[in-house]
Amino acid sequence: MRTYLVTGGAGFIGSNYIHYMLKKYQDEIRIINVDKLTYAGNLENLKGVEGRGNYTFIKADICDSGAIRRIFAEYDIDRVVHFAAESHVDRSIRDPEVFVKTNVLGTLVMLNAAKEAWELPDGTFKEGKKFLHVSTDEVYGSLEDENAYFYETTPYDPHSPYSASKASSDMLVKSYMDTYRFPANITNCSNNYGPYQFPEKLIPLIIHNALQGRKLPVYGDGKNVRDWLYVEDHAKGIDMVQEKGRLFETYNIGGHNEKQNIQIIHIILDTLQEMLPEEDPRRELVSEGLITYVEDRKGHDRRYAIAPDKIKAEIGWYPETKFEDGIRRTIQWFFEHEEWMKNVTSGDYQKYYEEMYCGK
Ligand code: NAD
Ligand code: DAU
Repeated sequence: MRTYLVTGGAGFIGSNYIHYMLKKYQDEIRIINVDKLTYAGNLENLKGVEGRGNYTFIKADICDSGAIRRIFAEYDIDRVVHFAAESHVDRSIRDPEVFVKTNVLGTLVMLNAAKEAWELPDGTFKEGKKFLHVSTDEVYGSLEDENAYFYETTPYDPHSPYSASKASSDMLVKSYMDTYRFPANITNCSNNYGPYQFPEKLIPLIIHNALQGRKLPVYGDGKNVRDWLYVEDHAKGIDMVQEKGRLFETYNIGGHNEKQNIQIIHIILDTLQEMLPEEDPRRELVSEGLITYVEDRKGHDRRYAIAPDKIKAEIGWYPETKFEDGIRRTIQWFFEHEEWMKNVTSGDYQKYYEEMYCGK
């Protein structure tokens, strides 16, 4: 049975990936989920798989090399899928240090532990072992020309402390591949959306605020463009890269779905109006009048867009979910998980929100 070590599996994309993999492979694989459970990690995301014999959760910090080494010593890990990171750009602008610790040093710890466990005396690696580093399109910087796209060959040009830390972690993975022929891949993906996304990020924040009749904060002129990818398509892409991709390669995973932030907000408002039942009192609350332009994000990248040509040509992956369908599924999920939202937006989240948006 193949054993996967997933880091950051209690977060948004990690938990979706675990659900996807256990649904697809059932009892053919075993998953060890290693997560520190920061504010972004939530074991409620994994209720559906808890108790399965082939799923194990271990609370550990990826910066703790002793703890990570012990996990490699205890389990014969075949695949690492490394999601764990500090992931929110706004938080990185306010407090960069933890981003460098987790994203850069944490990745180094993961690389060293896997290398130590997998390396043979002659310097080659045990057959079939693979490490996949999950990264972001933000490492490529901002596209100013509206016809330009990010390719795997686009030079790195990160602007935020978050993207600089992710770029550094990518460089470390590249250096291990080049120096040691360490068996790895890097994937750089665009903005994900879907179930279990923490409401500090644009789409769940807008859904949550709109349903409560709270203001919808739009940074700057609202015309910054992101390329939205349904999270389950991303999970499938990661699996396909490990199954069919060439080792040592980078693959960009994008949604082919560019939208301005203000367009996203209008789509969410329209979809909420369509989906809420006639008698639901929240219909009264959901309105364009909630849209509020606020101060722009510092160093706000203007446009991201991935051309996922390489992954399509080599592996056959493409973004299957149309945005109209993905956003409906996401909204339906939030309708059905009010308790989840209540739990994650109590306590610390309130404090963060007040500080970040100055009570708006
Ligand atoms: P997330 O913030 O929802 O989850 C991150 C998870 O990592 C949490 O469960 C958290 O507890 C865990 N974690 C944080 N620090 C840790 C540490 N020191 N040790 C162990 N666990 C730790 O993030 P996400 O949105 O699911 O993103 C996952 C990965 O995908 C990240 O590497 C991110 O950079 C990358 N990515 C995300 C997006 C996106 O749109 N969300 C897009 C491109 C790339
Ligand atoms: O591109 C991939 C990246 O996408 C990932 O690497 C990051 O981990 C992930 O958080 C995401 O980064 P963004 O900064 O693009 O996502 P966010 O949801 O924070 O913001 C999306 C856009 O919406 C961005 O242009 C800023 C804007 N925005 C965001 C918030 C939270 C607003 O206008 N208002 C808001 O309140």
